[in-house]
Amino acid sequence: MGLFSKKKHHTAGQVDENRLPRHIAVIMDGNGRWAKRRGLPRTAGHKVGAEVFRKIATYCKELGVEYLTVYAFSTENWKRPADEVNTIMGLLKQYMLEAIDSMERDQIRLRFLGDLSALSPELQELARRTNEISSHIQGFQANVCLNYGGRDELLRAARHFAADCVEGRCRPEELDEERFSGYLFTDGLPDPELIIRTSGEERLSGFLLWQCAYSELYFCDTLWPDFGPEDMDRAIVAYQQRDRRFGGVK
Ligand code: IPE
Ligand code: IPE
Ligand code: MG
Repeated sequence: MGLFSKKKHHTAGQVDENRLPRHIAVIMDGNGRWAKRRGLPRTAGHKVGAEVFRKIATYCKELGVEYLTVYAFSTENWKRPADEVNTIMGLLKQYMLEAIDSMERDQIRLRFLGDLSALSPELQELARRTNEISSHIQGFQANVCLNYGGRDELLRAARHFAADCVEGRCRPEELDEERFSGYLFTDGLPDPELIIRTSGEERLSGFLLWQCAYSELYFCDTLWPDFGPEDMDRAIVAYQQRDRRFGGVK
């Protein structure tokens, strides 16, 4: 905690705490390469990566960011070797168990976004319990995207809306951006002002395809297990230097 407390790091002077993004999203990438460079199995990178997520969530909360959404497992990540998938699921289970014990004390709301029906019944139950506890907590919210894919999310939304029309609950011409957003996993969340991807890859890999319309994108070479508060500060400072026009002129 101390290492990451606001007072002890030194680039914070540059972050304007009055102009923080409300919602930061992160594609936590590079766990495998981090491990490989150390001659370790890829799974070792995921273990450290999970720890870094905890620290960065705490850091964002301390800074005053309202929402942090991270990409933890994509709809495509099932293609990976079974032992890697199992390790990631095991880490998620551990994380959920710890969160169930600590989120009320830490005042961190935790939500899992994505198609959770593909997870084991045990993980689904733990996710349900964390969501239930979160509903009693106010303040900072961390969203973990799990078996999440942006196209999957959009297809579900379209199907759900079509079903609502067929069943007479609404009419096609009533669909606008706000209403459509309500069919997404991110229902109720503001769009992320800032999306960060670590590890030097410069693509979205299906992350928040609807929500990213006007997000500022920030790419850094740091591998996720090496990502620290100073990297988060750099990303926020870069964001604060951007000229956000939303199609208009200034
Ligand atoms: C991100 O790290 C974590 C997940 C996708 C689950 P990677 O595992 O993709 O790490 P690299 O990209 O292979 O280094
Ligand atoms: C995106 O990373 C998904 C997560 C970080 C969970 P990947 O490592 O799976 O993406 P690609 O394969 O490099 O596009
Ligand atoms: Mg990767």
